[in-house]
Amino acid sequence: MRVLVCGGAGYIGSHACTVLASRGHDLLVADSFVNSSPCVFDRLQRIIGRPVPFRRADLRVRAQVEALFDGPRFDAVVHFAALKAVGESCERPLDYFDNNIAGTIHLLQAMQDAGVKRLVFSSSATVYGDPACVPVREDAALCSTNPYGRTKLVMEQLIGDLCEADPAFRAANLRYFNPVGAHPSGLIGEDPGGVPNNLMPYISQVAVGRRDRLQVFGGDWPTADGTGVRDYLHVMDLARAHADAIDYLLREDRSLTVNLGTGRGVSVLELVHAFAKASGREVPCEIVARRPGDVAEVYADPSLAQRLLGWRAELGIEAMCRDAWRWQSMNPEGYGGSERLEDASRTSDELALASA
Ligand SMILES: NC(=O)c1ccc[n+]([C@@H]2O[C@H](COP(=O)([O-])OP(=O)(O)OC[C@H]3O[C@@H](n4cnc5c(N)ncnc54)[C@H](O)[C@@H]3O)[C@@H](O)[C@H]2O)c1
Repeated sequence: MRVLVCGGAGYIGSHACTVLASRGHDLLVADSFVNSSPCVFDRLQRIIGRPVPFRRADLRVRAQVEALFDGPRFDAVVHFAALKAVGESCERPLDYFDNNIAGTIHLLQAMQDAGVKRLVFSSSATVYGDPACVPVREDAALCSTNPYGRTKLVMEQLIGDLCEADPAFRAANLRYFNPVGAHPSGLIGEDPGGVPNNLMPYISQVAVGRRDRLQVFGGDWPTADGTGVRDYLHVMDLARAHADAIDYLLREDRSLTVNLGTGRGVSVLELVHAFAKASGREVPCEIVARRPGDVAEVYADPSLAQRLLGWRAELGIEAMCRDAWRWQSMNPEGYGGSERLEDASRTSDELALASA
């Protein structure tokens, strides 16, 4: 299959590229590098054993999206490209709607024009807001508590409406819970710019000495140890689900919406202890007040993904911590600040020459 991977330079997209390539798919990555760096392609080449072609393209610019479809026809598109920080989305809602929704509209229009009818979409457990009960099933009520979540809901609706309007269009809506960890090689991983918004990269940066201590928001939640409980899943398990979803769309010729999680809730303190054990480092923490908008526990019922895709999470919390730590300790500064800026202005050809 020839697959267009939008946002494939980012955290989850780059891991998905390793799995898609290992299943023999031909890839073209399109990314604006708003939250990633072209350095990832050197690393991907080392993992995959051949270069991954990529183009700088911003989905907000319709002409750039159309140009992606100029070459040989794609069999499927995987759409990771979005801004994803909840806090930032409250400060810059228009940027989030512009980037996530306008970008998705341009992509769907270009797919329609090119006759490409298979889409795998990165949705999120955030579409459940504060769920009434756990584990959360796909038929739980949808609601959003912040602008980022609202963009995910609108994008799901847009894609659903297109599936209704075009009987040949098929989409897989994948609702991720909390992806963590890294490729087992330690060559690629999560590299948040600035202060991490997510727990695992924060813990890793404390363990590696980049930050003093972890602040745990709330120690009085109605959970076993009083800290919040989430469903963490290994990014390589998540990556595999994208390849399974492409297979499903082509094999079954039906659309689907599934949760991707382990089905097991893990508390903040459990994750901290597992990470300390895996890394052999201390992770100092302090319990502070709850954050507005947080909830006690959210974890998935992932049984529909198992039934439809034959997918289930295989890697446990030890592997998640071990691989996150390998990535962090091999790359204490992530992909590297100066490299990131320098490479962001270079083209795929220049980078290929530089890495030759
Ligand atoms: N990481 C999580 O915890 C999580 C959880 C649920 C859902 N998701 C969703 O999964 C997807 C991937 O997340 P991630 O963690 O890999 O994020 P990421 O920021 O690492 O990757 C997103 C990629 O998309 C690119 N991008 C953003 N806007 C673009 C645009 N307009 N045009 C072209 N490229 C653009 C970024 O440069 C980046 O490389 C996102 O849609 C996110 O909302 C992530």
